Amino acid sequence: MCHYCGCRQIPLIRDYVAEHERVTDLGGDAVRALDRGDLESAREKLAAMAEELRSHWQGEENGIFRAMARDEQYTDYIAPLVREHREVAELLATVDVADARDQVRIRAAVVELHEHISKEEDGLFPASLTTLGGADWDEAIEAWREAHPGASLLPD
Ligand SMILES: [Fe+2]
Ligand SMILES: [Fe+2]
Repeated sequence: MCHYCGCRQIPLIRDYVAEHERVTDLGGDAVRALDRGDLESAREKLAAMAEELRSHWQGEENGIFRAMARDEQYTDYIAPLVREHREVAELLATVDVADARDQVRIRAAVVELHEHISKEEDGLFPASLTTLGGADWDEAIEAWREAHPGASLLPD
C-alpha cells in the first residue's frame, strides 16, 4: 500500500481503496467459509464480492484507467489489469462452490487479487498524481458516479 505519495488524500482514490478493502475482506471471508465447509456462506460472500467488484471495475475502467491509458507510457500497464478484471468476473459468474476444483480456483483468485490491487495502489494510483490533470480527474469522478448511482464519494 502506498502511504507516501499522498494519493490516498485524493477522494476518488480513497474510494477505490475502500472498495479494495471491502472486496479483500469478502474474499477472505469466502475462503474461511470454504475452510469450514460452509458452502452457503462461501456462496453469499462470493456473490457480495462479485457485486462490489462490478461497480468497482466500472468505476476504474471508465475512470482512472481510461484517463491514464491516454498516456502511452501506461497503456501496457493497464491492459493486463483489465484482463484480470475479466478473468475474475468469469470465475465469479460460473463458480460452483461445491466443486473442489473451483474451490482451488477461488483460493488462487483471492491471492491474485491481492497482487492485482498492489499494482493499482502501489503503481497506477501514485502515478496518476503526476499524470492526470483537472479535466482527467473530473472525468474519472464522473465515471465513478455513473458506476455508483446515488452514492457520494467518502467525505474528507
Ligand atoms: Fe482493478
Ligand atoms: Fe481496483
